Parts: sequence; structure tokens; C-alpha cells
Amino acid sequence: MVPTSHLDGDMMERRIYLNGFMGSGKSTIARELGEQRGWPYRDLDAVIEKRENTTIPEIFEEVGEQPFRDMETRYLEEFSGRTPPFILACGGGTPIRRHNREIMGETGVAIHLDVDVKTIMDRIGEDPHRPLFQNREQVESLFETRQQFYEQLPYTVDTTECSPQEVIEKLLVRVPFF
Ligand code: S3P
Repeated sequence: MVPTSHLDGDMMERRIYLNGFMGSGKSTIARELGEQRGWPYRDLDAVIEKRENTTIPEIFEEVGEQPFRDMETRYLEEFSGRTPPFILACGGGTPIRRHNREIMGETGVAIHLDVDVKTIMDRIGEDPHRPLFQNREQVESLFETRQQFYEQLPYTVDTTECSPQEVIEKLLVRVPFF
């Protein structure tokens, strides 16, 4: 459990964790929203790559998925202790661990950017930077498996056929404390 006694409501509301499947627009929305509000924004994958001095595909290739998941938890935990405000674009698999969901829930606001498989395929087909992205069948299956975890996040915004600005507008309505 993450200690939260030192947090007041306002601080929690200004730690924003963007979640969603690969290609759901987490990084784009974090950047645009961060720039519009003047809040710092980061990508959890980029934090891991910088601190580990490697790339996500290399981590998967050299040590495999589970050690990557451990790093993801470690850096999420560390990042969650930063002074708000901030917007963190998490990895597509970050919310699959209960502990990660607890970290987000206890320190801030976790949002699911919902997207459909067609949009995902259009956006990230053939991206070599995503080790868990192979082909449409594999993406459909992973997408199905992931829904049970995304559904546990407190806020969901449907991003289907939305521009980044439209997603941001929906977010501002859907998540009351923005
Ligand atoms: C993953 C998504 C990736 C990255 C890693 C694993 C996943 O992040 O963390 O390749 O398990 O869905 P993006 O969602 O930013 O592509």
C-alpha cells in the first residue's frame, strides 16, 4: 500500500494517470493536456528507458516481460511520490497489476482512454517499438484480456473517432476536478 496520509484531496486530484491500450493516445493526450494546463507530463515507458538506459524492446528481449513489469511498478511507485501537478502516460499494461492500480488510486486519478481495435491497428500497425504488438489476431486477444483491468479504473473516456482536442474536452467534462 502507498502511504497517503500526507496527501490532501487537492494534491491527489492533480496527479493524473492516463491509461489505455497501446495506441489509445495516452502520450499525445498527456502532452497536449500538459501543455494546455502548464502541467509537467511524462511517459512511464520513457522514464524507464531513460533510467535503465535502454529501450522497451531491448528490456523485453534481454530479460523478458516479468522483469519489465517489476520495473514498471518500481518507477510508477517512485513517480507517484512526485509533487503534483503532473500527468503520467502509463504503459498499456500498467493497470494489469493490482498494486499499480492501488498506487494510482491512492495517489491520484486514473483515467482509461477507451479505444477500438480498428483505431489501434490504424495507429500502430507494424510498430517495432512495441514488443507486445504482433498482428491483428494477437492484438484482438490481448485487447479482450485487458478490458477487465481497464474497467476497474475509476474514469473512462471514449476516444473513438475523437481528435486529441475532443478527447481533452471530454476529459474535462468527465473528470470533474480538472
Ligand atoms: C505495453 C505497452 C507499451 C509498453 C510495453 C508493454 C503493454 O506501452 O509499456 O511495450 O503491455 O500493453 P504503450 O501502451 O505506451 O505502447
